[in-house]
Amino acid sequence: MTAKGKVMRVIVIGAGGGLGRALVNEYLKRGASVEAISRQAEPADLPAEARWWQVEGTLAGYQQVFSALGDEAMQPDVVISAIGWLHQSEWQPERRIEALTMEQLQTYFEINASLPVLLLQALKPLLPKSHPCTLLQLGAKVGSISDNQLGGWYGYRASKAALNMLYKTAAIEFRRTHKALCLAVVHPGTTDTGLSQPFQQRIAADKLYSAEQSAERIAKVAEGLTPAQSGGFWFWDGSPLPY
Ligand SMILES: NC(=O)c1ccc[n+]([C@@H]2O[C@H](COP(=O)([O-])OP(=O)(O)OC[C@H]3O[C@@H](n4cnc5c(N)ncnc54)[C@H](OP(=O)(O)O)[C@@H]3O)[C@@H](O)[C@H]2O)c1
Repeated sequence: MTAKGKVMRVIVIGAGGGLGRALVNEYLKRGASVEAISRQAEPADLPAEARWWQVEGTLAGYQQVFSALGDEAMQPDVVISAIGWLHQSEWQPERRIEALTMEQLQTYFEINASLPVLLLQALKPLLPKSHPCTLLQLGAKVGSISDNQLGGWYGYRASKAALNMLYKTAAIEFRRTHKALCLAVVHPGTTDTGLSQPFQQRIAADKLYSAEQSAERIAKVAEGLTPAQSGGFWFWDGSPLPY
């Protein structure tokens, strides 16, 4: 429910991933109506309160869904993008400079920075100008430049740092036209999903969170944010992270 007692309208993008799916469930638990957008097919156990949109994974594919929602005059209260990429088969995070390739670096930037900000561009016509709306992209603490003590993971770190800059820049622009909008990048904490799976052996058991636990925390952060905080980078407990 929103502060005005209406059913909360939520869009989850990247809804087929570990955190994306858990966020769909978390918002359903909170009584929201959820538009779930994913490249994957609709899960058989999707509750009726959620609507699943299967897309191609290109910007045009997402745009089609946003314009269909616009035709229904949908004005979201919360939009969360759980899109992100760290590894796939032969491509692992680069530990040494010798491992860097143009193709892998471009892929990191494309999925972790360019696609999220272009989705924000595509979402603009849907975003309410006067009623409160929070638009949150999942980022990563390793994208903090000032917090980087360990090195490694060049492309993932740099693309998540670029995401922070793109969101901060957009927040300054949107502040003029969308006064009740809050743009945010949130670090979910190390969460047990396919993305973190190959790296979990180095994580203490009490520092590896379930997707359900992280989704609950992310929704709580979204709930607590105000338009005055737009453009921030946040830890899963709602405390600010340095860029
Ligand atoms: N898990 C962690 O420990 C952790 C830690 C810090 C930050 N994060 C961030 O949290 C977010 C969610 O991660 P996760 O752990 O849930 O990972 P995940 O299970 O791998 O889900 C990521 C989702 O991103 C979407 N995606 C990936 N490549 C894409 C592409 N080329 N085009 C369009 N969409 C693409 C997919 O959504 P669909 O399949 O629905 O299309 C995919 O399922 C990411 O931004 C990640 O960087 C995760």
